Amino acid sequence: MEERNFKITLEYEHRIRFTRDVFAEGNRMLARLLQTNGHAKVLVFLEQAVAAEFPQLESQIHEYFESTPGLQLKRVVVAPGAEECKRDEAVLHSVWDAVNEEKIDRHSYVFAIGGGAFLDVIGFGAATAHRGIRLVRFPTTTLSQDDSGVGVKNGINAFGKKNWLGSFTVPYAVVNDFAFLHSQPAGIRRDGLVEAVKVALVRDGAFFEWLEDNAGLLKKLKPHALEEAVERSAILHAEHIAFGGDPYELGSSRPLDFGHWAAHKLEQLTGFALSHAQAVSVGIALDSIYSWKTGRLQREDAQRILKILSELDLPLYHEGLEIEKEDGNLAVFDGLEEFREHLGGELTVLLLKGVGEGEDVHFMDTCLLKHCIGLMKAYANEKSESLRAQLFLTD
Ligand SMILES: NC(=O)c1ccc[n+]([C@@H]2O[C@H](COP(=O)([O-])OP(=O)(O)OC[C@H]3O[C@@H](n4cnc5c(N)ncnc54)[C@H](O)[C@@H]3O)[C@@H](O)[C@H]2O)c1
Ligand SMILES: [Zn+2]
Repeated sequence: MEERNFKITLEYEHRIRFTRDVFAEGNRMLARLLQTNGHAKVLVFLEQAVAAEFPQLESQIHEYFESTPGLQLKRVVVAPGAEECKRDEAVLHSVWDAVNEEKIDRHSYVFAIGGGAFLDVIGFGAATAHRGIRLVRFPTTTLSQDDSGVGVKNGINAFGKKNWLGSFTVPYAVVNDFAFLHSQPAGIRRDGLVEAVKVALVRDGAFFEWLEDNAGLLKKLKPHALEEAVERSAILHAEHIAFGGDPYELGSSRPLDFGHWAAHKLEQLTGFALSHAQAVSVGIALDSIYSWKTGRLQREDAQRILKILSELDLPLYHEGLEIEKEDGNLAVFDGLEEFREHLGGELTVLLLKGVGEGEDVHFMDTCLLKHCIGLMKAYANEKSESLRAQLFLTD
């Protein structure tokens, strides 16, 4: 009896582009980006909130296609986004319906224009219809441009859990159009920078220093600073995916999910009232303090991390951290097992050894975590920098 293994190697091009006003007359970036064989069909999904902010966009898209030979616009579907669209399957079904009705095939394109939640749903629909239609993502929020949009994952929530259904699929391309950034409400525009802070912490100390030096401009949402932060963060995320050795997360390590075990649980515990970005900020604060308290990270570096989150008006604490279960344990700690379960294998959480340098650990001491939560609460309630420093010195 034979036992044979065949190695299957697939190569993907992860095309990331930065532009402004991608559908404006005269911007030919898209026309260069798409392979058409002379007659590619395109189905566009546009998030409602973005359509409302850019009332000309739909007609601009129509005009763009009219002036671009080889591309055939089949339909622009305007649909709701935000976290709700990941819970309610109507938007997902609208992708399958439109693909079916417009006879979209695997040489056609689905465009998704919207925030991270919308991209996740449209991406999942595109990845599953005909087993995968080329997807071009146009992220429209800070978070989706500096992180999720350049990733290779999609998904919807199920069984009350984030991203329970989904796939790993490299999009055909990601187009970060900076014009979209500036219409977001100020809070959402700033909060998305948390993923830039995160990727700097795990991969690039020099970028973290740049973020510290530019925190004032970023807080004021100065366009050039915001755009530079988004671009550097997006490239760091893409580099990690391309060169990190595990683009489809087959192992147990998820460095880009620093601070996320607590974050995902907090989103769930608050019924998603706490946004992903804000929850990640709290999760980063917790794992940074824990990294210090377990002797990995210098106290001064833990303080730098809390300071920049605070300067960007990101939360350092949330009362969801202290929700107790009937057995007296903190509910947030269930996030550790759910984090493990999502990937399978051994629990692996990335902690920090330094700014820009991570270390995988396989055990988290919940007693110590509880102590860190107490310290976070005291720190967050204290507004004076010198008293905050005092708290760290005496703990
Ligand atoms: N697939 C991945 O790898 C990955 C990674 C990280 C996060 N995510 C997911 O991304 C989602 C969060 O994405 P997000 O932070 O972009 O939030 P979001 O998609 O919920 O958008 C935030 C809000 O901004 C609105 N909006 C979007 N673009 C706008 C614009 N240009 N102007 C005005 N309003 C606009 C949306 O309607 C929404 O109300 C979460 O579901 C998270 O799980 C996915
Ligand atoms: Zn995230």
